[in-house]
Amino acid sequence: MMHGESTHVLRPRSFAFGDPAMKLLPLDRPELIQLAAQWLGREENYKWLDFGDGVHALSRVSLTIMTQRDLHLLRLFTPDDSDLPVGLVALSDIRRESKTAGSLWAVLGRKRYGGYTFRAASKLLTFGFVELGLEAVSAWTVESNVAARRVLEQLKFRYVGRQRRRHWIEGRPYDRLLYDLLAREHAPIPDRVAARLVALRCASRDSNAGPSAPEADALSS
Ligand SMILES: CC(C)(COP(=O)(O)OP(=O)(O)OC[C@H]1O[C@@H](n2cnc3c(N)ncnc32)[C@H](O)[C@@H]1OP(=O)(O)O)[C@@H](O)C(=O)NCCC(=O)NCCS
Repeated sequence: MMHGESTHVLRPRSFAFGDPAMKLLPLDRPELIQLAAQWLGREENYKWLDFGDGVHALSRVSLTIMTQRDLHLLRLFTPDDSDLPVGLVALSDIRRESKTAGSLWAVLGRKRYGGYTFRAASKLLTFGFVELGLEAVSAWTVESNVAARRVLEQLKFRYVGRQRRRHWIEGRPYDRLLYDLLAREHAPIPDRVAARLVALRCASRDSNAGPSAPEADALSS
């Protein structure tokens, strides 16, 4: 089921014992692939990505092929309180022999769910390190992509270098920052703790800003 974007912000609620936790879902149905392709087709998302030879946007067909290959591990993620997919996390260039993944990447499809990407990526890394036996995962981001840098820092990725003038957006070059994370440096976050972190983060934002009218409506509904 597709949901259009709305302009208001729906903050996650606080979580009591027994609440369901965020889920990672495989892209195993055409409508889920379609949803992810729709997010990847937006300029605000694809301008930060690169699927080879500077290809930013990924078609539904390419995405379908990616889901069928062991080279990639793609998962949609949900918030804690529903089964609605809100974003996509992925490990690409997975090399089982060398126990590495060449790239961790993500897209938050529904922007009002900010804060969930870090948790979804952390879960995916746990899967990669524990189930796939990976030893090291790399990642990169464009220098000016502050949100992505923040997520990588929260995940404890280590900055390992810079590729100068390596990424092009609207005819302008940007530097890419390179990162990696070893299995022993990854600390899985228990779901309860993670949900509490999201709730605290939102509460602190709300107390600074005060809820807008639509937010207040959403919280009281
Ligand atoms: C990168 C992305 C996945 C992050 O999603 P998210 O973590 O759920 O989104 P958030 O809005 O919570 O941003 C993450 C952090 O960056 C911070 N941030 C976001 N934009 C910022 C800005 N312009 N300046 C400073 N900080 C910023 C947020 O405050 C948050 O920090 P906090 O956790 O300390 O509060 C999402 O922004 C996205 O889809 N971007 C487009 C695609 C993309 O860039 N993918 C990454 C390529 S590797």
